Amino acid sequence: MKQRTLLLIKPDAVEARHVGEIISIIQHHGFEICQVKVFRFDPDLCSIFYKDHLGKDFYPRLESFMCKGKTWALVLEMDDAVQRLRDLLGDVVPEKRKPGTIRAVFGHGITDNGAHGSDSLQSAEREIGVIFGSYPQ
Ligand code: TYD
Ligand code: MG
Repeated sequence: MKQRTLLLIKPDAVEARHVGEIISIIQHHGFEICQVKVFRFDPDLCSIFYKDHLGKDFYPRLESFMCKGKTWALVLEMDDAVQRLRDLLGDVVPEKRKPGTIRAVFGHGITDNGAHGSDSLQSAEREIGVIFGSYPQ
């Protein structure tokens, strides 16, 4: 079934000029790019986007990382897009990243991991709304 999901290319990968390579990998794997937005998180937007992580010990690190520079957001479409993007990104924990995954190639630590992909269809719809503006905040 065709699904939409959200890819974020995070500030570390944008700063390192890896946007083009990451988009090339995404296209090579058959995702259709439906919408693109370049913006910078501020603490308010970050707290809405990452609402499930508010209050966790790592949240201050996550907020300062996400707000440090520009992010590229892409709405992607294909069959089973949510799981396929998660598989292509690799694990949040550096030691668990499979070789060749986007986070293994372009990420570094647990926080500065290069890219985000929605973890479910419900998250995808919510996150696309938050970033592209149709979600009540
Ligand atoms: P999480 O939802 O667990 O991972 P994913 O991005 O794969 O869905 O965490 C969200 C983000 O929070 C993650 O991309 C980076 C940050 N994070 C940390 O900085 N430290 C941590 O220990 C964890 C678990 C996440
Ligand atoms: Mg998550």
